[in-house]
This record gives sequence, structure tokens and C-alpha cells, in this order.
Amino acid sequence: MHEKIIKVCHGRSCSERFSPYILSRLSGDKEFYKYPDTLIFEKCLCQGRCKEWPIVIYDNDLHIYQNPIKASEILRKKVNEWKNTRK
Ligand code: FES
Repeated sequence: MHEKIIKVCHGRSCSERFSPYILSRLSGDKEFYKYPDTLIFEKCLCQGRCKEWPIVIYDNDLHIYQNPIKASEILRKKVNEWKNTRK
């Protein structure tokens, strides 16, 4: 199985910049993807990039200055990439 883990920082700085809303948005978006493997959404601890909040890690690819809309768009692109690399 090819699981993809999406981690959203829930450290103090990121949480103050709405990272819980990002996690909620991404978890909701999951329903729209026909990703054949598993997408797992997790909270993670501070990544040491607090000045670049909020942080989202898409299967080991760390992105800074996220917001729910930006994160949703990146996840859509990532899912397409992951689908193509499975072929
Ligand atoms: S709180 Fe998210 S990187 Fe530090």
C-alpha cells in the first residue's frame, strides 16, 4: 500500500495562524479525490519553522506560509502527481 501522510503543524505559532482550519479543510477535501491508496492526515509538533507559519508537510515535502485555500490547491496537485507516479 502506498500511503501518503499529510502533516499539519499544530505547534503554538502555527495553531495561532489557523492550522486547525487547514487540517479540517484538507480532511474534507479528501472526499473529492479518487486517490487509490490511503491519504492520512495528522497533526504534528513544531517543525522549528515558526516564523514561516503555518507549516504543512505533504508526504515529506514541507511547505511554508500555508492557508486553507493554498493548502487545498497544493494537495490537489500532489494527489495528481502521486497518481501519475503510480503508473
Ligand atoms: S509551531 Fe509550527 S513550525 Fe513551530
